[in-house]
Amino acid sequence: MKQVIRTVIVAMLVASVGTACGDKTSSRGNDEIDRKVEALLSKMTLDEKIGQMNQITSGGMQIYVTNQIKSGGIGSILNEIDPLVVDSLQRIAVEESRLGIPILFSRDVIHGFKTIFPVPLGQAASWNPQVVENGGRVAAIEASSVGVRWTFAPMLDIARDVRWGRSVEGFGEDPYLTSVLGVAMIKGLQGENLSDPTAVAACAKHFVGYGAAEGGRDYNTAMISTEQLRNIYLPPFKAVAEAGVATFMISFNEINGIPNSGNGYLATEILRKQWKYDGLLVSDWNSVGEMQNHGFVKDDAEAAIVALNAGIDMDMENHVYAPNLKQLVKEGKVKESQIDDAVRRILKLKFQLGLFENPYVGKRESVFYAEDHLKKAKEAAIESAILLKNENDVLPLKESVKSIAVIGPMADAQHDQMGTWVFDGDKTHTVTPLAALRAEYGDKVKINYVPGLNYSRDLDKKQFAQAVAAARSSDVVLFFGGEEAIMSGEAHSRADISLPGAQKELIAELAKTGKPLVLIVMAGRPIEIYKELPLVNTYLFSFHPGTMGGPALADLIFGKAVPSGKLPVTYPKMVGQLPLYYNHKNTGRPAQDELPMIDNIPLEAGQVSLGCTSYYLDAGKDPLFPFGFGLSYTTFAYSDLQLSAQEIKTGGSIKVSCSVKNTGAREGAEIVQLYIRDLVGSVTRPVRELKAFEKVTLKPGEAKTVEFTLTADALKFYNNKDEEILEPGDYTLWVGPSSAEGLETSFVLK
Ligand code: BGC
Repeated sequence: MKQVIRTVIVAMLVASVGTACGDKTSSRGNDEIDRKVEALLSKMTLDEKIGQMNQITSGGMQIYVTNQIKSGGIGSILNEIDPLVVDSLQRIAVEESRLGIPILFSRDVIHGFKTIFPVPLGQAASWNPQVVENGGRVAAIEASSVGVRWTFAPMLDIARDVRWGRSVEGFGEDPYLTSVLGVAMIKGLQGENLSDPTAVAACAKHFVGYGAAEGGRDYNTAMISTEQLRNIYLPPFKAVAEAGVATFMISFNEINGIPNSGNGYLATEILRKQWKYDGLLVSDWNSVGEMQNHGFVKDDAEAAIVALNAGIDMDMENHVYAPNLKQLVKEGKVKESQIDDAVRRILKLKFQLGLFENPYVGKRESVFYAEDHLKKAKEAAIESAILLKNENDVLPLKESVKSIAVIGPMADAQHDQMGTWVFDGDKTHTVTPLAALRAEYGDKVKINYVPGLNYSRDLDKKQFAQAVAAARSSDVVLFFGGEEAIMSGEAHSRADISLPGAQKELIAELAKTGKPLVLIVMAGRPIEIYKELPLVNTYLFSFHPGTMGGPALADLIFGKAVPSGKLPVTYPKMVGQLPLYYNHKNTGRPAQDELPMIDNIPLEAGQVSLGCTSYYLDAGKDPLFPFGFGLSYTTFAYSDLQLSAQEIKTGGSIKVSCSVKNTGAREGAEIVQLYIRDLVGSVTRPVRELKAFEKVTLKPGEAKTVEFTLTADALKFYNNKDEEILEPGDYTLWVGPSSAEGLETSFVLK
């Protein structure tokens, strides 16, 4: 029987998902808290106010810290996770400082506190908001149990160049997918209400355009037009602002010559005035002071003025506000009312979190690595893995497979499979693929394990002969490769994104055995693999899958689980194609399907004999795999694409429906994607834009009709005059399995 699935109305993303973490926890309209804030503020000295704006990294119980707390000189402490120390410091603040204002303890909990989920880019591959929300909830429960009530996640930076090490921390290249998943993570972190003791205030970072760093080199300059800023980089931030994210972080980078820490247009004009966001704004670590390195201000005092004017409420480890603001008020260079506004927002958050009523952690039962947390981490790792090639259906392994060679530096890498930004995850809890295969499937198959290389950058080939021998004596070879955790994340950009060390050579040796070869890559970014791809039968890309990555992969390998992940980023053939993204512009000379390539160019070919179109002679026009792509152990057929009308009117909407059938022999999940193209615009429009998606699970032979509502509002865009516009005209619409495929139709916006 056919079922109909209706999905979220595209333009109502925020309204539809915002309620759970939105106004209940937001300060808007919360008169009682506002009254408490005003009452407290009226008692504060200027020093105490400035103290609230000061966030320092933990120095434990050192005398300089405790003295500062006593005098009301610290508003927030970063990186203290010993609950005894948290409570001791808090006791000083609450019982020994004049006004007893509690400290807000914070920590980067990016994809798990103890139980580590897949890296955020991996979670994005699930295209499943519930997976991301679960990750946020588990992280919040564990982190809050030691006193962490504020975290610096989610990262919403759109990244179109995977050389950028921090691509791993976000949800990929698409503004819509990032918006949906960003809202989901906030819902998980903040829970139903910030006053719940397991709620952790989230922070939308890094506002904004940090991912546009030139050349993918971290912290680098970004040049972003108004149209791109509004249409690509800002939408995820707007979505979470409307959904009630408690705080924002201003990014390190400069855009178009102005460091964001000093750019009032972004924080004050867009965030506060246009979006009416009233939560707390924190700087990035030392980013205010670094405006001196940018060559934008001459000293700390000037940095403090510029940052305060730009709207930054709290100074994260800059040590710029605390020593300078009082003098600047005296000199009339900043107004005390500006300081009052910042302090209001800080106090408000502390009240919302219930810190005045319940400042202490106390004695709590451990919640780390709880069974339910591990279960959810495993589900996330299963849904994050993307099957990119599966020649001869080597996976899942057949009953006839009696022995497997497990080879490669990531087969048993307890630390590295957790990925970047793991401060608290204990590697001894990580279950690796080797351990899971032995524990869960060791009675079914003989496992011949030879690492071959001890770590991803290992160049020593002395284990190669042994690895090849293990491959020869096995029915199937599983090669677990990739990059170590340290090779992605902050300040860890790469110019060569291929497999490091001697992994490529080892794969080539293993391929020579003629045994079915499965490549499983754990990494923080798509790894350049086009030369190795023809040598392997199967390619499963799992990102760094976290604590439960091993059991997840073992189940996928043996078919207890079925891959369903799809790429949240375009997968390049070669690093030289970067930046590369599906929602690019068409250019005046788009590439044709048939292109002359470097190896086929005749000698002394005439200057224009190859045609004049936009592509690379050596890499062509296409990526290795398009955004949205991923295979399954089953197959899906799309049919019967229908629109409820051929026209959308301003303010109106149409229904889009499409039938999706499981045409294979296994149950599986498909991520059905809706894209549009606005054919003519007063500024040029992308060749495709994702507007909706839905993940559907189908039994063999089962068909479902997936229904989307596309609103006219979802077709609005910004021009370079910073005007939001809706232009009547013709559109193409696709529903399909990736950004490069799909059934096609058209409609008109009237
Ligand atoms: C990073 C932020 C992070 C902060 C605190 C900075 O270096 O850019 O993302 O939240 O440090 O650790």
